[in-house]
Amino acid sequence: MLVACEFSGRVRDAFRAQGHDAMSCDLFPTDAEGPHYHGPVEEILDWGWDLMIAHPPCTYLTNTASQYLHTDPSRWAKLDKACDFFNLLLDANIHSICVENPVPHKYAVKRLHGRRYTQVIQPWWFGHSKTKATCLWLKNLPPLVPTNIVNKRSDEEDWTQYRPVYTPSADRWKLRSLTYLGVAQAMAEQWTQESAVRVFYAHASGDDPKSVASTRTEIKEAIANKISSDVLVVPGRDDHQRNWRGDWETWQEGVVTRRNAVTSKPVYDLFVVASTTCGRSTANILGVALTMKRPVFFWDGKFSKVESIKVTDPDDWTGGFRVCREAEQVPLFDEEANDHAQ
Ligand SMILES: C[S@@+](CC[C@H](N)C(=O)[O-])C[C@H]1O[C@@H](n2cnc3c(N)ncnc32)[C@H](O)[C@@H]1O
Repeated sequence: MLVACEFSGRVRDAFRAQGHDAMSCDLFPTDAEGPHYHGPVEEILDWGWDLMIAHPPCTYLTNTASQYLHTDPSRWAKLDKACDFFNLLLDANIHSICVENPVPHKYAVKRLHGRRYTQVIQPWWFGHSKTKATCLWLKNLPPLVPTNIVNKRSDEEDWTQYRPVYTPSADRWKLRSLTYLGVAQAMAEQWTQESAVRVFYAHASGDDPKSVASTRTEIKEAIANKISSDVLVVPGRDDHQRNWRGDWETWQEGVVTRRNAVTSKPVYDLFVVASTTCGRSTANILGVALTMKRPVFFWDGKFSKVESIKVTDPDDWTGGFRVCREAEQVPLFDEEANDHAQ
């Protein structure tokens, strides 16, 4: 999928965290390391994307900008150009499209051939105490469903919005144009295939990112070999980065109990751990999963079912827990059961 007009990498990384092949594109280089086309999106629109989310500039289109049209006539030509770009994105030959912008003025709507937005969303629907009407023009995508409604009257600056890339001294326009993390997360959760098997990969917080990435690929390939659905494997680190709201226990329980806002299905179908000893956080997550009778598997080149998590040293928060496997193993998927039967 393509995220057009994005330098921050926020929407791109929310989709990548879910296991999708996502790339951002902007005239600026990307502020967060990741796949990025540094150049005009016009050059890559026909690369065969399934989904595009676009954040074109709003300078000449917003309601607040309409007053300047009457004092600065040069803005009419700029408005025409901005609307041509907006139309180009909206009419791209891509199956599913979302174009995002603030509320447009009537001259802009006319130049968008009268096409009004499909939905207006607010940051406070997605966990940020802010009011900022944001319009979405949607093609073959369902409207976003709120995921975490919070108090919208708070005037406090929402600094979680700016981590980890930005400091207060960064360019103001950049800060103001960032996609809210909760919105990016909702897009990634709600606009991807419902049929995919979603796997939570529990690993230690200190694990080397390269080894986490390679184990994630192994797990994904091993499961994909067994079933016909798509497989999305989300490492704990990615989930934590997106969903931690200041309290460890709430996050750990949420990994197991969180549900997709559209389908109401649990966000993860399966929990996988790849180390026999683990820390408190992994132990808590897997403990909740086992209590709720959710499938938990150990991966060491093959899958084996986890029966329980035992405490070996309560004072050792990083390695004081042992992952115990069932003596009699059941296969992970039916196909495996068939293999065994043959
Ligand atoms: C309002 S900002 C969107 C920022 C975005 N929400 C993010 O989090 O990075 C609009 C962006 O569109 C980019 N842009 C403008 N024209 C473009 C083009 N032809 N191709 C790619 N990006 C373009 C600008 O460089 C700018 O960064």
